[in-house]
Amino acid sequence: MYRNDVSKGACSPPLEAVLEGSCPSRRPVWFMRQAGRYLPEYRSLRLGFDHFLDFCYTPSAAARATLQPIERYDLDAAIIFSDILVIPDLYGVLVEFKAGEGPCLSPVGEEEVVRLRERKRSSKVEAIFEALSRVRSELSPSLSLIGFCGAPWTVASYMVEGGKSVERENLRLLAYRREPWLFALMDWLVDVSIDFLCGQVEAGANVLQIFDTWAVDLSEELRPHFCYDPILRIVKGVKSRFPKIPIIGFARGLGVAQIDFVTHAGVDACGVEAGISRGWIRDNLLDRCPVQGNLDPVCLMAGGEALDGAVRNILEAFPKDRHIFNLGHGIKPGTDPEHLSKVISLIRDYDH
Ligand code: CP3
Repeated sequence: MYRNDVSKGACSPPLEAVLEGSCPSRRPVWFMRQAGRYLPEYRSLRLGFDHFLDFCYTPSAAARATLQPIERYDLDAAIIFSDILVIPDLYGVLVEFKAGEGPCLSPVGEEEVVRLRERKRSSKVEAIFEALSRVRSELSPSLSLIGFCGAPWTVASYMVEGGKSVERENLRLLAYRREPWLFALMDWLVDVSIDFLCGQVEAGANVLQIFDTWAVDLSEELRPHFCYDPILRIVKGVKSRFPKIPIIGFARGLGVAQIDFVTHAGVDACGVEAGISRGWIRDNLLDRCPVQGNLDPVCLMAGGEALDGAVRNILEAFPKDRHIFNLGHGIKPGTDPEHLSKVISLIRDYDH
């Protein structure tokens, strides 16, 4: 029996309280990429696997990696250890992670897109769901478990470009030319992402996040078609089955267009990158939805007075019932794990 099946009492875990619009017992904090290479215990667990995706599809390893940061720090949420590129992998697209090179995929073009529609999802997905239910059963009821997927634009960037690329130029060319097969790929990604997120909720996820890392590439003409609309369709699809599941949208780098994002993408909260001014966020976003962020991951890496000052500025800028403390992007691998302890103790001291 997962906690999702039980009706929640008056007191939701802090992350869910903020997302529901109620007052949390304390300011929620978690970090994007909180499980991963900056942690020595992750690096030693990872040594047991040659391939990163094998690690993700091993429920005991994925559950362990998810719980490692929870054991070390006083956090409010665990995020399932997985990757946004499991979606193409689960439908037969070759996905490899080469050390030092990042992800490498067999590029998808017009013909492959037609074939994707005919493919069934691999049963390997069950391993991810199994990891989620294991984590949910081990996690304290006062902590939330976050499930996630990549947004269609970001996942399409890796599928079309065949991995990481400079400025996602090929993808943007297709977008400006309104290439029909790119729309077909986006539609397919919307559909499979809905199924994947719903499966994660059934397995125990309490909150979902959609990562649109490469939203930063989109101009004003492209954003409605390739960022807001596909995310809105995913949100509607998931909420038609799970009306109460909170969904955080992280559309990285939109700047002042975060207003359009929260107005048109249907999300319950938005992640804000480090580059947006906090005064602007307070004046323009906070009355629309709670925000998550926006500490610079490089500042977290730097530590010292710069970090203490930035954390205090964030705490002063945002009230705890409208803010989820997090970074503006994921933790960098060379970060000293002690710096996270410092940030968390500053947050806890400030709240009291
Ligand atoms: O703790 C967590 O946040 C959960 C795990 C998680 C991973 N990837 C693990 C991972 C999450 C949420 C992601 C999301 C993800 N993956 C994004 C969106 C967020 C972002 O950072 O922008 C993107 C764009 C990816 C794609 C991806 N996966 C890249 C570009 C890479 C290689 C670059 C890198 O950081 O190494 C990965 C691999 C990956 N995903 C690793 C981890 C821990 C490193 C692989 C390893 O340990 O060998």
